[in-house]
Amino acid sequence: MSTSTPWLSNSFPTSSRLDVDSSALHSSLEGISLSESTLSESYNDSGHFASFVTLVAGLERSLNNEDPLFLDLDIWLSSNRTVIASGASSRVEKVGWNSGNFKGKYKERWGNFVALKYTRHHTDASRAIVNWKQLLSEVRALLHEPIRYHPNIVRLLGITWGAVEGMQSNFPALVLELSEMGTLAQLQLNSEESLSFDIKKKLCLDVAKGISILHACNVVHGDLKHENVLVYPNRDTSASVKYVAKISDFGGSVMDLGADDFRSLHTPTRPWLAPEFFSSNGMSEIELKLTDVYALGLLVWRTIVDGQNPYLPLHSDAEPMSDSQIYQMKCSNELLDLAKEGVLHLKLGIGSDGIDTLHYVFENTIQFIPSLRNCYDHAHRSYASRVALRTDATNCT
Ligand SMILES: Nc1ncnc2c1ncn2[C@@H]1O[C@H](COP(=O)(O)OP(=O)(O)O)[C@@H](O)[C@H]1O
Ligand SMILES: [Mg+2]
Repeated sequence: MSTSTPWLSNSFPTSSRLDVDSSALHSSLEGISLSESTLSESYNDSGHFASFVTLVAGLERSLNNEDPLFLDLDIWLSSNRTVIASGASSRVEKVGWNSGNFKGKYKERWGNFVALKYTRHHTDASRAIVNWKQLLSEVRALLHEPIRYHPNIVRLLGITWGAVEGMQSNFPALVLELSEMGTLAQLQLNSEESLSFDIKKKLCLDVAKGISILHACNVVHGDLKHENVLVYPNRDTSASVKYVAKISDFGGSVMDLGADDFRSLHTPTRPWLAPEFFSSNGMSEIELKLTDVYALGLLVWRTIVDGQNPYLPLHSDAEPMSDSQIYQMKCSNELLDLAKEGVLHLKLGIGSDGIDTLHYVFENTIQFIPSLRNCYDHAHRSYASRVALRTDATNCT
């Protein structure tokens, strides 16, 4: 299968919408919901670096019985690294633990290698503020306890600094649990054969559970897509599906919205973006959450079509649709019809119950009118039971 998918990497910085005023970092620190009292005592506005250290130290203290979050790059991690991904705003490398260090239990628990995520250096000062803000959002989301220990969220193992070849980054790097399998996009696009429907369903369910915990903690992901879902081996070796999906990349996440606050998304990716983004200057927390729900529906659709571009006209060899065509189809709800009709043409072997489930998922997610995205199951505080597994709802929490 082709892995050339330029249309997928259509991430666009919405700089005009970014709130890049100089108080951004300060206010994001002030609004912290974790260890607030500890932090407010020690925080002072002495620069991004110091603010960041103060913030993480406070979060570290709030996590009981954990190893230190600050890791010395030279001591704990090997200098032998391989680049996994290199984008406009970050670079991710695979790196091993240094042999002989006392991180033996890390190795045992998280494997021989970790992923190091570096933020790129920008000379433009306003861009640097945005980078700090995104880094803070990512760290705060990943260290918030209910999110940190959730099986469908990537685990942040630590934070480090160090010189990186070819990068002038003075930003801290995140040490993350490495996925050897890569993203959901890589898993699907590199597989010779389609994943079975059961595997696809389980992976979508995992993502829905991850979104559920984020929303329960009032965190909006803001850039949900295949490239931000990592796949790991299932630690439960007796499980019928050998994979676990975990949501990653929280740089675009939005949090701390009060009842009267309105915000935009920072780093959405156009093909997976809910249409109302373009007609609003700011959205409430519930409205922002509903953009994640829209993206979740699109993720389910793309998973069903093996990670390929789902926006292909059904009955022709025409080129993939342009951004504006996709937008028009989202606004007219033709996209919903395309998704529903599309799965009828695939030989999924899932019977009418399976098709009904998919139609139900699409009808309750990729709706133009946000209030019709009715897939939150209040009884279970979860999207999972309705979105991914309507037929096995009793198994879901
Ligand atoms: N923990 C990880 N394990 C393996 N690959 C990763 C990991 N984290 C990120 N990547 C790879 O790096 C890419 C970029 O990382 P991401 O966190 O999405 O940052 P960006 O903000 O640049 O999109 C991902 O799409 C994925 O291919
Ligand atoms: Mg990403």
